[in-house]
Amino acid sequence: MQNSYSPYSKFCVGASLLTKDGKIFQGTNVENISYGLSICAERVAIFVAISNGYRYFTDMAIVTNARKYTFPCGACRQVLMEFCPSLKIHLQGNQIRTVKLAKIYPNKFNSKQMTD
Ligand code: THU
Repeated sequence: MQNSYSPYSKFCVGASLLTKDGKIFQGTNVENISYGLSICAERVAIFVAISNGYRYFTDMAIVTNARKYTFPCGACRQVLMEFCPSLKIHLQGNQIRTVKLAKIYPNKFNSKQMTD
């Protein structure tokens, strides 16, 4: 979160992803003047982890510079579902709140939907 590049929204996000064997990968949001090219912290974290050869994850923590809980956006939920449908997500707010990815993202898009 401290490394967030978010000059446009001023919303700093950090995501940490825990692998099944105990390694942690971190990501932050990186914005762009062409706003749509910005990417969320959660996807950066999982893309870094995947790029380093890891595929199995158990937990993600999300922190921001706001006081309220920040849930991952729909795009991040879909990406996380690809690799870790049983992921537990820990959200920082007044306290820590834990939610299950599959519960906050039911009916993910999947390949069965592409056949009749
Ligand atoms: N953002 C994240 O990094 N993760 C979220 O879960 C929600 C939104 C970022 C994207 C953008 O840089 C800023 O927060 C405002 O939307």
